[in-house]
Amino acid sequence: MDDGTIYDHLKKKGVSRRDFMKICGTLAGAMGLKSAPPLQQSSLPDFLNTMGETPAARVARALESRPRLPVIWLEFQDCAGCSEALTRSQSPTLIDLVLNVISVEYHETLTAAAGFQTEANKEAIMKQYHGQYVLVVEGSIPTAANGAYCTIGGRSAVDLLREAAEGAAAVIATGNCAAFGGLPKADPNPTGAEGVWDIITDKPVVNIPGCPAIPEVFTGTVAYFAVFGSLPELDDLHRPMTFYANTVHDRCLRRPFYEAGKFAKSFDDEGARKGWCLYKLGCKGPTTYNACATIKWDAGLSFPVQSGHPCLGCSEPNFWDGGGFYQGQSAPLDRPTLTTAGAAAAVGVVAGVAAAAANRGAQKRAETSTSEEE
Ligand code: SF4
Ligand code: F3S
Repeated sequence: MDDGTIYDHLKKKGVSRRDFMKICGTLAGAMGLKSAPPLQQSSLPDFLNTMGETPAARVARALESRPRLPVIWLEFQDCAGCSEALTRSQSPTLIDLVLNVISVEYHETLTAAAGFQTEANKEAIMKQYHGQYVLVVEGSIPTAANGAYCTIGGRSAVDLLREAAEGAAAVIATGNCAAFGGLPKADPNPTGAEGVWDIITDKPVVNIPGCPAIPEVFTGTVAYFAVFGSLPELDDLHRPMTFYANTVHDRCLRRPFYEAGKFAKSFDDEGARKGWCLYKLGCKGPTTYNACATIKWDAGLSFPVQSGHPCLGCSEPNFWDGGGFYQGQSAPLDRPTLTTAGAAAAVGVVAGVAAAAANRGAQKRAETSTSEEE
């Protein structure tokens, strides 16, 4: 990793001041910034930090003063889908931008080296950037049989995670496996799979759940920490509010059919062909918090529900055991009556957000409910 600020790094790559400001604007958008928070360790007094500076200008000021953020990426019990999604993202511009503000020093899946050389490199990085690097974890951590189900270089995943987390400035768990245990934790969970926050309890763990995590959500979160040196606002499950404040259902393009009581009953009936709501086919969108319906996948092309598949709740705890289409279950909450839905619509988005918050509490109480709307 070269020395100097992020802006220095970009200048060395031939980026002009005009293009630099465009980059700052794109990054501010990726982070979901409307009004940016005050910078940490800013040399300016606080009142200047809040004098109507645009998010892009504030990002620019941060990039002119901060070095690139070293990142160590560990991968344990998973399918590598989150790495795959990131590297195959259809938003290369954004990914490139983020790779300009961070420096991935170690990635178990993508590294060209192998064996002891790779592990020695990781140890050197942890020592050199102790207290400064961000630790990204992909995959769940098996705890049964003293961690024997996943070992690297003869050491268990639990051991490697604890060691790397000790010197990290922040820990980011990407994908449902790393966040909540994911598919490896599904009953009967033979490996004793756990999420990162079950093991690392002495520092904040940011969860970016999904199966896989949406690449833009991951990069937006990492970029926020790289630019501002602090974590974004999180919900009670440690997910960034910018991306997880709304349910899939809140922004779903099939929502008007839900409100009108028009449901597909099978995947090839008239309702399915007309794009009706998939609730009766087990859609968990009403109780699933994720940005799929807005950011979508493949450069905003589509997302599961748009493609005709019910949401499986892949960004929530207890995915897969929580039910869904593959267990022949509908979403755990009853569909609101049309009267209730009409009242909520009249009050608007604020009421919808409040209802979503109430749903979240109800969801925790009814994770395994199989009630079906008729
Ligand atoms: Fe969309 Fe599913 Fe909600 Fe229907 S239940 S509106 S398909 S998220
Ligand atoms: Fe996952 Fe549901 Fe989105 S299954 S990808 S949270 S639509």
